[in-house]
Amino acid sequence: MNYWILVIDDDAANLKMANNILSAEGMRVSCVKSGEAAVKFLQSSIAVPDLILLDVHMPVMDGFQTLAEINKIADASVIPVIFLTADDDSDTETRGLKAGAMDFIKKPFNPEVLLLRIKHIVELSRLQADLAFEVEQKTLELTAQNIKLEKISMQICMALSGAIDAKDKYTNGHSARVADYSRMIAARAGFSREEQDNIYMIGLLHDVGKIGIPDAIINKPGKLDPEERAVIMAHPVMGEKILKLIEEFPRLVTGARFHHERYDGRGYPDGLAGENIPIEARIIAVADAYDAMTSRRSYRDVLPQDQVRQEVAEGRGVQFDPKFADIMLDMIDEDKDYHMREK
Ligand SMILES: [Fe+2]
Repeated sequence: MNYWILVIDDDAANLKMANNILSAEGMRVSCVKSGEAAVKFLQSSIAVPDLILLDVHMPVMDGFQTLAEINKIADASVIPVIFLTADDDSDTETRGLKAGAMDFIKKPFNPEVLLLRIKHIVELSRLQADLAFEVEQKTLELTAQNIKLEKISMQICMALSGAIDAKDKYTNGHSARVADYSRMIAARAGFSREEQDNIYMIGLLHDVGKIGIPDAIINKPGKLDPEERAVIMAHPVMGEKILKLIEEFPRLVTGARFHHERYDGRGYPDGLAGENIPIEARIIAVADAYDAMTSRRSYRDVLPQDQVRQEVAEGRGVQFDPKFADIMLDMIDEDKDYHMREK
């Protein structure tokens, strides 16, 4: 058996006996005469033994103290320990098991019992180590797979948002910018990193319903007639229908359906007001309106920054949730060179 056993016992005769029994089975045996020597031995050795036989009664440091010290050594703390005891005392056994011993062997040893116990325990702890390694490997694999899946989901959302924006020749990159601004607002509002990422995705797909609107209406240069307006205003509901299919992320629906609601209740499609509008939609509403003003249209260039600021300020508590309008106003004030706009 290619085990390496460390025997700790102050009794030289016992050490010799253990050494003889174990060596005869082909085991590598290291013998030390005290707890202090054992601790030094383990601290300085590069590899660790497969098992420790530890005498309970020893002068200076007894078996319990020795075990406590061994447990402080990171590599050694995982080595299974069998206590050697002359006691027929169940108290010692209870204390030993509580301290982390795997088993007890009564002295003087019965060689067969000693070998069988060592074999069982070493094999068991090797199995446990193999299992822990397997679990660790599988966890790493799963984590890598999850990261890959998340990346794929994000890339699909990006591709889809690109398809939405491609339909409208005047709002190139609108969805990605709304997603960016929404994430910035969420970050400043103190949302967690995960929640910021969610809001980014929801923002990216908020206008997905536009896919169902004829290009002729979306790209019509002049004023829309009432019928065409009604078609455009159906895009939140259309978006909801499309995104309902992504069952794993139900909140995508929320952004699409409610981003044209207004804080004062005069928005569409449901006329929800105030906090009845889902929070992600209230954030996206500010980001969406800001991007509409800071990107080019067929009939106008990007609006001047002071005008945009004024519109956001006037919409505070009317069109927009005041909290998120205030955050946007701070973002505008910090953007001295007016970088936050369609390039
Ligand atoms: Fe929209």
